[in-house]
Amino acid sequence: MTQPTRQHPRLRGADVGIPARQLDFRHSADIPRYVAGDNRTATCFLAVLSVFFPPGEDYFVRSVNHFSHLVSDPRLRAEVAGFTGQEVIHSREHDRLNEVFTERGFSLGVTEQSIRLGLAVLDRLPARQRLAVTAFAEHFTATFAEETLKYEGTNGDIHPELRELWLWHALEELEHKSVSFDVLELAGNDYRERVLAALCTIAALGPALVVSLASLLVTEGALARPADLVRGAWLLLGPDKSLPRVLRRMPLWLRRDFHPDRRDTRALEQEWRDRLFGARGSLSDQLRRPVHTASSA
Ligand SMILES: [Fe+2]
Ligand SMILES: [Fe+2]
Repeated sequence: MTQPTRQHPRLRGADVGIPARQLDFRHSADIPRYVAGDNRTATCFLAVLSVFFPPGEDYFVRSVNHFSHLVSDPRLRAEVAGFTGQEVIHSREHDRLNEVFTERGFSLGVTEQSIRLGLAVLDRLPARQRLAVTAFAEHFTATFAEETLKYEGTNGDIHPELRELWLWHALEELEHKSVSFDVLELAGNDYRERVLAALCTIAALGPALVVSLASLLVTEGALARPADLVRGAWLLLGPDKSLPRVLRRMPLWLRRDFHPDRRDTRALEQEWRDRLFGARGSLSDQLRRPVHTASSA
């Protein structure tokens, strides 16, 4: 780890590989209603995930920053700042994407209420337990991100305009994957608390996910279309898809020596930094234009 030096009195997230990139997705009016493989079921799952992100990421940021007084190492301080900056921008862009779903006619009220209820339950946990919940959730997002980036070729069912947003989010989840866990180490990483955190997260957010998805499948008419359901299940859970591989890797959390960095994803991160933000990266132009804000709308 880099020690604080006089040359770098105040490291920023970008200095430690966790830049808060000011992206500004402006979704075009011709995005279809069903953006995942032209399939209602898979699109409903994508919409639920997207609605879960803004309040979820707010929970993660609050849980980590609650312990910022323990973080004296300048490098970890910069990592926490980078993590916070990235998650705040993810929330903003998913809020915007959720507006697109709403404009296309999706009824997201039950999903919004379900995730808020699930997080309200998790908010009642003690502070260190909330941090362990966050580290567990970040294990999920980092694993999902890695599988998404590694197998992007087999997950090319999402509309190209939205795929860029998911790929950018995935890259940054990998870049900051160990921050919450490293802060948990400072706060006192207790194995039993970590196991309990995983159980609490699944107990609180599992029902929220099921209720949200069921509600959307009903309102979108997917339940009345068996062929759509079967194809959607294949798009999400087929043998070459990310989700089954993610679920198989989740029990790694139960290893006593678990640490996100045990999985070396640096080459994958560099590959996607180049593909998205390199000289000819597909998102490089976005970083060069001024950020669109509510006040400038
Ligand atoms: Fe995120
Ligand atoms: Fe994250």
